[in-house]
Amino acid sequence: MKIFLDSVDVAEINQIREMGLLGGITTNPSLMSKKVSELSAQKKLLAEICKAAKGVDVLAEPISPEYDGIMKEALEFAKISPQIVAKIAMSPDGIKAVSALKKKKIKTALTLVFSPLQAVSAAVAGANYICPFVGRLDDIGQNGVDLIGEIMGIYKNYGFKTKVIVASIRNNNHILGSAKHGAHSVTIPFKLVNELLRHDLTDAGIKKFIEDWEKAKTK
Ligand code: E4P
Repeated sequence: MKIFLDSVDVAEINQIREMGLLGGITTNPSLMSKKVSELSAQKKLLAEICKAAKGVDVLAEPISPEYDGIMKEALEFAKISPQIVAKIAMSPDGIKAVSALKKKKIKTALTLVFSPLQAVSAAVAGANYICPFVGRLDDIGQNGVDLIGEIMGIYKNYGFKTKVIVASIRNNNHILGSAKHGAHSVTIPFKLVNELLRHDLTDAGIKKFIEDWEKAKTK
């Protein structure tokens, strides 16, 4: 399983890369809007993110909902680095853009995926990745992790090559559930990384080892 970082913060990216955990980066317009407010600044930030991510895929999301606009932005982003993957919202225009970008050998991800049939359509169109959003499904009273099980089962039936990056992750149960269903990747916010590594008994164990060693020194 790969761990993507859901972040546009270069310092966070550096930290996770140095831990050896960085499998890729996902960005979205909401995250971008916290750092930049125009396209040229966004492209500059994406270039810094690609450099910090050192070779792994960086998913960059066009804001335009229409085909022509999606293509224009995706082609601009693709010039930044071969690491760039055009992350496109699921829609008729979005899926058409995925097909066109595939012909131009530009990697794509379909995002805002909430149903198994959207996932099937993305795979048929040849998207490299899909991003199903588990947290936002939980928010409306559905079980987001169950969607991952359905998608992985269907993808296995047909041998689809599209990789699943589970997105909108809010807690460890989302990560564990995704792993149990065999999802290829999860994308997690920086604040969840420590939770992934932590256990109360690990903390207590470290404390006790240090205390015992200190006691031995005073004997
Ligand atoms: C990543 O690809 C998604 O854009 C992100 O995980 C969405 O998370 P949210 O539902 O917490 O905004």
